[in-house]
Amino acid sequence: MTAAVSTSTGSASGGVPPTDAPPAGFDFAAYLEAARLRVEAALDGSLGPERPESLREAMRYSLLAGGKRLRPILCLAACELAGGDGAQAMPTAVALEMIHTMSLIHDDLPAMDNDDLRRGRPTNHKVYGEANAILAGDALLTRAFEMVALRSPGVPAERLLAVVGELSLASGAPGLVGGQVVDLECEGKDVDLETLEYIHLHKTGALLRACVLTGALIAGASEALLEALRTYARGIGLAFQIIDDILDVTASSEVLGKTAGKDLIADKTTYPKLLGLEESRQRAEALVAEAKAVLAPWSAGEAGGKAAPLLALADYITSRDR
Ligand code: FPP
Ligand code: MG
Repeated sequence: MTAAVSTSTGSASGGVPPTDAPPAGFDFAAYLEAARLRVEAALDGSLGPERPESLREAMRYSLLAGGKRLRPILCLAACELAGGDGAQAMPTAVALEMIHTMSLIHDDLPAMDNDDLRRGRPTNHKVYGEANAILAGDALLTRAFEMVALRSPGVPAERLLAVVGELSLASGAPGLVGGQVVDLECEGKDVDLETLEYIHLHKTGALLRACVLTGALIAGASEALLEALRTYARGIGLAFQIIDDILDVTASSEVLGKTAGKDLIADKTTYPKLLGLEESRQRAEALVAEAKAVLAPWSAGEAGGKAAPLLALADYITSRDR
């Protein structure tokens, strides 16, 4: 994984570093890898001895298929920014990856995008059949809520209730499901920028927003920080999707681990189609800059160290190549 994020923070005058830059010495690549390994271990331990074995296998196949694990890492980073212990947010971080994974299993189904390749491997239904893929997705979604409600020791119940609320909003009609429905309805049609943004804010943005909000809620964050994180998530959510659209045009299937060029084939409206590649990239960069700017009050002084991962993750979203 490339983590092309500058860690240089010195200002031109040699004075105080800009508050929206990661502090000097922050090694983002090392942070990302350490966090990813922690998440992988938690994901590995998250599937209990469910029966039948075939269901467990189909769940594990997709949940442990690798990937950047950006969603759980965002959750842990937001928890730590709010002064919490990342370990307390890990069950929720796992839940977020479960919801993300189930949404991809269902998205790849013949009734939806009918895709053969995901994370460099045959899609879940190609290996286990359609019925089992649907059920593995269902089991991952429900297990996600179990992770929060029954497997989050040490977190006060009212915080867990707030987390369940955020996950429900992000997953259901107000979030992923609603965005996916509009996305499918718009296939083959001319879509304006407003509709495209609606799709992305729901289909992708809602879960990214839940990542940072749930992490912060577990730590008992202030309303001011929660509000800043909502803005941060909107910026990185849209930027993430713009880059996804760009990569669909510019990257290969081997690098992406999923079928490249399929937006064009499915006649989907994308940012490059509406704005062109260059303007799309500029828009993504502006959104990331805005996302970082709202964290400025938490980036200065001693707390700068805690905001560093979220600042660097925002940059990573535009610099990623897969
Ligand atoms: C990938 O989009 C798909 C999503 C981000 C979400 C799809 C949502 C669902 C199938 C609903 C899930 C249901 C619940 C209850 C959460 P894409 O096709 O643009 O991206 P891709 O190239 O990675 O396939
Ligand atoms: Mg798809």
